[in-house]
Amino acid sequence: MDKFSKIFENNRQWIEEKLSLDPQYFDRLAAGQAPEFLYIGCSDSRATAEELMGMQPGDVFVHRNVANMVVPTDNSVNAVIQFAVEFLKVKHIIVCGHYGCGGVKAAMTPSDMGQLNNWLQMVRDVIRIHHDELDEIKDEEEKYKRLVELNVQEQCINVIKSPHVQRAWNERKLPTVHGWIFDLHTGKLIDLGIDMGEAFGQLKEIYELKT
Ligand code: CO
Repeated sequence: MDKFSKIFENNRQWIEEKLSLDPQYFDRLAAGQAPEFLYIGCSDSRATAEELMGMQPGDVFVHRNVANMVVPTDNSVNAVIQFAVEFLKVKHIIVCGHYGCGGVKAAMTPSDMGQLNNWLQMVRDVIRIHHDELDEIKDEEEKYKRLVELNVQEQCINVIKSPHVQRAWNERKLPTVHGWIFDLHTGKLIDLGIDMGEAFGQLKEIYELKT
């Protein structure tokens, strides 16, 4: 049986498994969601959200796109952030990139990629902003890894530009914004340890919205 044909069979087995552990599982699932985390990650099939964090359905509100971008003019990510912050009142927003990211690699490559050009142009902007640091790195693989990290950092900054996030900070000092990397080679999650409160302090003059 090919993978596609097996999906509904997989689903039947999954239901059985869940119900054998907890007969009320789906009643509880249907009752509502109260996730503490908003996870913004890459669409890459290897960099899943819940599985690598050991989370279950109901635990994480998820948004994924090519190269885990937070683009201020992207209605989709804006709606996700607003919903997560204003209605779900998540405590944490995580931007998670991953080493070996094809989107980031493509942005380092001088070729015309059609529809992807506009999207990846924003990763190229990260290269421009951090040009001096990246230019110092002679090893291509190391440069690529560093760009993945810097892209996460810049997308975290885009998160704090959001009026929804700034309003929540003023009202309840939450959510905390985190920049993570998933290392496909080891399976490890790496916290980049970016202090977004401190970053906002430095960027306030430019991005504060007085919500
Ligand atoms: Co990727």
